[in-house]
Amino acid sequence: MNITGPESLIMGVDDLDASRRFLGLYGLSELDHGAAGASFEALDGSGVELRLLDDPSLPAANVRGPTLRASVWGVGSQADLDAIAEELARDRKVRWVDGVVQSADDDGNALYFRVSQRRPYQAGGFACNVAGHKVERFNSRVDFDNHGPARQMGHVVYWCNDPKQSIQFYRDRLGFRITDSFRDNMGVFARSSGHSDHHSLFLMRPFDDTPPSFQHAEFTFGNVQDVFAGGYKLDKAGYATARGPGRFELGSNWYWYFKTPMGGAFELGADMDQVDDDWVAGEFDNAGVTGGWYFDFNKQWSRQR
Ligand SMILES: [Fe+2]
Repeated sequence: MNITGPESLIMGVDDLDASRRFLGLYGLSELDHGAAGASFEALDGSGVELRLLDDPSLPAANVRGPTLRASVWGVGSQADLDAIAEELARDRKVRWVDGVVQSADDDGNALYFRVSQRRPYQAGGFACNVAGHKVERFNSRVDFDNHGPARQMGHVVYWCNDPKQSIQFYRDRLGFRITDSFRDNMGVFARSSGHSDHHSLFLMRPFDDTPPSFQHAEFTFGNVQDVFAGGYKLDKAGYATARGPGRFELGSNWYWYFKTPMGGAFELGADMDQVDDDWVAGEFDNAGVTGGWYFDFNKQWSRQR
């Protein structure tokens, strides 16, 4: 059951133009748009599908308003897809629609699976000065006016009332590996077996009665400079920072999160830990959430007391 990672987000939105504007500034390329939706992609073909809230093709969500309506996961082969459909049909509804397996996790978050459509891509590196080691950028300023495009989708995050319980579905039924967790059942990180990012999925316990729902998603950019330049661009365009910029202790990724017109947040990320089955999972204090920023029920970021 080789799940290669998350590769599309199907978002239900009420303001298509505002959502398109955000995604373009964020760094995704628009493939097409019409009266009922739009499609965006990163360099590897992973991306975002926008649909109007009342689109009958959208699965239900646990919250009202703009939000993620389904996350689409890639798998390595048709045999993997068949195996997932057979496994999930044991205890839940499974539909096949145009070669896509549609089902849901234990919290009612819609999960779609398809044979991966990601593609290899070429992208440049960055000139970097490391004191005492190397000078690659000389008589040359960093460009804060432009940032590189989103390169590939990294992870999706859900609010979850019992992360340790809910992650069992992903681990035991879909072969995910738990890579780290927070104490007191505040959150569990996991990666799909065919994905080497520290986390493809994070289930995070809210501080209030937020139902299971989309929290944020991340696309991976070239490096920290892209994160900062992209963040400055969104900030100047008037989008509110939800968290950051900063660097996480778990996953090591640079981050900057912005509230979006699509519900939840989108994170610009870079330089995440790459791991395999030799990775040793740990349990950590709730680094950076307490005293930081979080979503309340109405999808507003609030300072926690
Ligand atoms: Fe993230």
